[in-house]
Amino acid sequence: PASAGRAAHGALTVAGVELAEVAERFGTPVYVLDEGEVRGRCRTYREAFPGADVFYAAKAFLSRAMVRWVHEEGLGLDVCSAGELELAVTAGFPPERIVLHGNAKSPRDLGTALRLGVGRIVIDSPSEIARIAAAVGPGGRQKVMVRVVPGVSAGGHDKIRTGTDGQKFGLSATDGSAARAVARVLAQPQLELTGLHCHIGSQITEAEPYLTALRRMVALMAGVRDAHGTVLPELDLGGGHGIAYRPGEPSLDVAALARGLRDGLAEACAAARLPVPRLAVEPGRAVVGPAGVAVYRVLAVKRTGDTLFVAVDGGMSDNPRPALYGVRYAPRLIGRAPAAAPRTATVVGRHCEAGDVLAAGVELPGDVRPGDLIAVPVAGAYHLSMASGYNMVGRPPVVAVHEGAARLLVRRETFEDLRRRDVGE
Ligand code: LLP
Repeated sequence: PASAGRAAHGALTVAGVELAEVAERFGTPVYVLDEGEVRGRCRTYREAFPGADVFYAAKAFLSRAMVRWVHEEGLGLDVCSAGELELAVTAGFPPERIVLHGNAKSPRDLGTALRLGVGRIVIDSPSEIARIAAAVGPGGRQKVMVRVVPGVSAGGHDKIRTGTDGQKFGLSATDGSAARAVARVLAQPQLELTGLHCHIGSQITEAEPYLTALRRMVALMAGVRDAHGTVLPELDLGGGHGIAYRPGEPSLDVAALARGLRDGLAEACAAARLPVPRLAVEPGRAVVGPAGVAVYRVLAVKRTGDTLFVAVDGGMSDNPRPALYGVRYAPRLIGRAPAAAPRTATVVGRHCEAGDVLAAGVELPGDVRPGDLIAVPVAGAYHLSMASGYNMVGRPPVVAVHEGAARLLVRRETFEDLRRRDVGE
């Protein structure tokens, strides 16, 4: 990792731009995104997965510039709503390179997908099959995949584990619902089944669960061939590739995963006497997470008992992840040299609840004071895309940094933006 990694280990600049300068120019809180780091991570995927499709999961972070970078670097896109889809297509992304997901696709989601011509729609429940076929209409044909739950437990937190039965996504490989859905899709002339999909979870740092899922998916594909004589040409293994949020934490080795999947696929297909399908993966976090840094200003400092509370001008409305998943970050003081030894502190947000804690039990210089800047590295994924309007604070802007220059990608949400939606008397 280039500059965002450096930021995690002590530097004050990202892509040749001083973070404190970005804070001065654009205000705080501000999210800084290193364009070169995003592009570099896209390239790492392209090189690790030659001959496969890499669909960037837009839910991690989406903006028009992001869409352009991802496209220019040769990735496709995974979206899960009409909104994500429309933003991508209006930013110039080719719709045939987009996959639409969702366990509860609205009429607008499906209508937009068909109107814009998305490459694949991933079927998540039996009731969708007839619905999509009807929406396609007579004479039309839409490429679809079936999302399978392979029975593999993996992921960094219960809320982001999706590989086993008992959670809302996909169709079970274990109880036969996936095989039944495949049969129903194959019977629909409006639907062209290109393959099977699975996404076992998120923030997974080892290759093993993916290899297990892959073998189960190949077994299911062999079952489809045996039952229907249909050889499915594609296999999408979803995303979930884990990253390090703090120095020293493990991350998934993308190149090793790619090698493991290639070899595992060749072996499983040879054993099942199946041609090797075209592979796809859908990383979100691993493409954009390490490329982002959040910068806050300290508004208040106080000691309560043994705890030094450092309160900043953002919090759970721009980063709900610590509250939702107990994720730990490594915030650091930037913009000045510390003049005191480090001590243990708890960085909290500005929102009106005690759970608004960004980072508990971290080391910060003992002289941290109001007006200081605090940077939270590895803030590129699932922060702003999950940001809320809590307490009417307004969502922070996104600034891209590249080759020594900073430019605004997404502006700050103003009070006027918020007020305008309130139309009642
Ligand atoms: N493909 C599908 C079908 C997915 O549902 C997801 C994520 C991805 C790909 C991308 O997963 P990634 O590579 O980014 O892990 N808000 C949570 C993560 C939720 C992930 C949901 N689905 C978090 O902040 O950790």
